[in-house]
Amino acid sequence: MKLLAIETSCDETAICVIDADGTIDNFRYKQVGNALFSQVELHKQYGGVFPSLAKREHAKNLVPLLIEALTQAALLSPAARPSASKAQLDELKILLTREEELFARLMLFFAQYDKPAIDAIAVTHGPGLEPALWVGINFARALSIIWNIPLVPVNHMEGHIFMSLDEPTRDPGVHTLNAPEFPLLALLISGGHTEFVHMSEWFAYQRVGVTRDDAIGEAFDKVARLMGLPYPGGPEISRRAHVAREADLKAPFTLTRPMLQSGDLDFSFSGIKTAVRKEVEALGGGETLTEEQKNMVAREFEDAVTDVFVKKTRRAIEEFGTATLIIGGGVAANRYIKEKLQELCTEQQIAFLVCNPKDATDNALMIALAGYFRFLRKEFAGEVLVAEGNLLLT
Ligand code: KG4
Ligand code: ZN
Repeated sequence: MKLLAIETSCDETAICVIDADGTIDNFRYKQVGNALFSQVELHKQYGGVFPSLAKREHAKNLVPLLIEALTQAALLSPAARPSASKAQLDELKILLTREEELFARLMLFFAQYDKPAIDAIAVTHGPGLEPALWVGINFARALSIIWNIPLVPVNHMEGHIFMSLDEPTRDPGVHTLNAPEFPLLALLISGGHTEFVHMSEWFAYQRVGVTRDDAIGEAFDKVARLMGLPYPGGPEISRRAHVAREADLKAPFTLTRPMLQSGDLDFSFSGIKTAVRKEVEALGGGETLTEEQKNMVAREFEDAVTDVFVKKTRRAIEEFGTATLIIGGGVAANRYIKEKLQELCTEQQIAFLVCNPKDATDNALMIALAGYFRFLRKEFAGEVLVAEGNLLLT
């Protein structure tokens, strides 16, 4: 079957098409279309994601990206006659009353193109920035109404988990899923989330630890900003920390490793950001730091948070008898964190899986993968019970 997936939970507008079949034990798929627009450059001036700007950009880019993804998949053909009925268009008008630009672009799209051979649509329905999520959800609903195909709501975090289980096969372009040993522990680390999810089996999720304040990616971004480094700060901090490590350069201070004594699997990263600010000020302030000083601060910060992840993960593995550790989310692209967690898994003799760095940040493929299995479970919009913290699609 062909499934179209849409992701707009943060600052990436992404649409992809997969051609997939099989169940979770013999799943195979090919990504046949993939279009992504990252708004990173636009949010740079704010040093983080600005929600109403993100929403506006999603509304502007969704239809062009849809055309791009469907064209790559060779699924788009000019309409011989209008494919939408008057009743469908009236329904759309009500659905998109507050999305004028998106409505206008969609009307044009439906007038120009025939219904493509897509069997279902998957869309991120949370967690994420609400205004950004809603534009994607309404867009997906519009397509499902006009094309008359099922809509599957997908949890963004489940998407990151499936992405980390993705595995290429020997056939070029054909991928499958790793068959992990359970219980599995997922450490999800991104710009918006930091959490441990324990899985006793497929689709049985239990959140067993979470950040009490900032997400780890946010902390990387804020620390970068303190030193006048560009957004997103994660890759830049990571690069600089590596340079300092290679040169054996250490900061003249040690940061406290937060939450090691909390007695649970929770995290907290807002205190460490304040501690970095104080140390940077003591060194003369962000703008005056030398390149070497910036590298040393980056290293100490990365060392501190990595220590926290390793110690908390060890604790979780012991508590749950974990057989497989996976990491996902944008910060899972961090080579030092990956290296140290790999060492931990080797020591504990458990499997360690991490996604390809290019798939770690938000994308539509992760939504397609989770969406495909939710489709097999017939969890369509309007019929699905959603977990706490998610938006309801009715
Ligand atoms: O998963 P993602 O694309 O978005 C959310 O769902 O939040 O994650 C984006 C975050 C940003 O905060 C970025 O700084 C961070 O991932 N990031 C990194 C690295 N690459 C991206 N953080 C640390 N090291 C990296 N190499
Ligand atoms: Zn994400």
